[in-house]
Amino acid sequence: APTPRVFSGIQPSGHLTLGNYLGALKRFAERQDQGVETVYCLVDLHAITVWQDPDALRQQTREAAAAFMAAGIDPQRSILFNQSQVPAHAELAWLLNCVARLGWMNRMTQFKDKAGKNSEAVSLGLYAYPALMAADILAYHATHVPVGEDQKQHVELTRDIAAKFNHDYGVDFFPLPEPVIEGPATRVMSLRDGSKKMSKSDPSDASRINLTDDADTIAQKFRKARTDAEPLPGDMDALKDRPEARNLVNIYAALANEAPADVLARFEGQGFGSFKPALADVAVSVLGPISGRMAEFLADPAEIDRILGQGAEKAEGISSPITARTREIMGM
Ligand code: ADP
Ligand code: NA
Repeated sequence: APTPRVFSGIQPSGHLTLGNYLGALKRFAERQDQGVETVYCLVDLHAITVWQDPDALRQQTREAAAAFMAAGIDPQRSILFNQSQVPAHAELAWLLNCVARLGWMNRMTQFKDKAGKNSEAVSLGLYAYPALMAADILAYHATHVPVGEDQKQHVELTRDIAAKFNHDYGVDFFPLPEPVIEGPATRVMSLRDGSKKMSKSDPSDASRINLTDDADTIAQKFRKARTDAEPLPGDMDALKDRPEARNLVNIYAALANEAPADVLARFEGQGFGSFKPALADVAVSVLGPISGRMAEFLADPAEIDRILGQGAEKAEGISSPITARTREIMGM
């Protein structure tokens, strides 16, 4: 079996959200602390698949790096870097574009969601994004990819691309990476619409908790979160048709490191008038220290740039030989 190596990434396309924290950053830190080799990437080449203001992108990239470190990613123990600083990603993406099939790309639901009715007017990059993501993962021979549920299909596509490459060239070169989707917060939903995931690119700021929101803003956003008028039941099954309520219970559980069932056991029979302030308190106690540490890192942008530069060198040390070997296998 190949040596375990974890790879994952986050787009610096806006302020990171509670969804990014619970679905990604928190779990990235846990993996690192288990002593597995961990490679984490700010995927700015993905961010530019929709237009980004250049100065804002630079700032958001540093902010995302600060969020990783504030959430417990230690650049001495994990490789933390910015995608565009490591040439292997774009190069391997092209090679894999020639392996991926158009029919596979056409089945990607995230593209359909993001492009909406206007699919002729979006960038070619948005369409090709999942092949770039395959390159991100395969350039490190990563075996495990911790992600939220929204990325499951892309990791499965990565497996298909790796398997087709191995088959077409008669090699056993790319390991097939496993998506790792676990815990009560694999899909944190919007606070305004229980059918949409919480996202940094949602135009409504009230739909999400940003990692940098202050205590008052967090309390206010939870107070205004859409819910029904029923009291909380004693078990999760009874929340099957109450997506907004289920979402808030899952968020509470993930923040407090408890099982959702244990949260309900405590709040059974209570309404949101008492649950929401309790949820806000837990969120503030977890996010307050994170935003504090982010502010400390952001006070020294040159230091962040230095850390990302060092991370890029380490990342290149792994991904450059793998990409060179890929080229060679393909006859170049
Ligand atoms: P966004 O949709 O907020 O722009 P990204 O596409 O950059 O987020 O995703 C970065 C990581 O965060 C991925 O692993 C993704 O699955 C995870 N993630 C994003 N939104 C959520 C969410 N609402 N709940 C759980 N995980 C999420
Ligand atoms: Na996403």
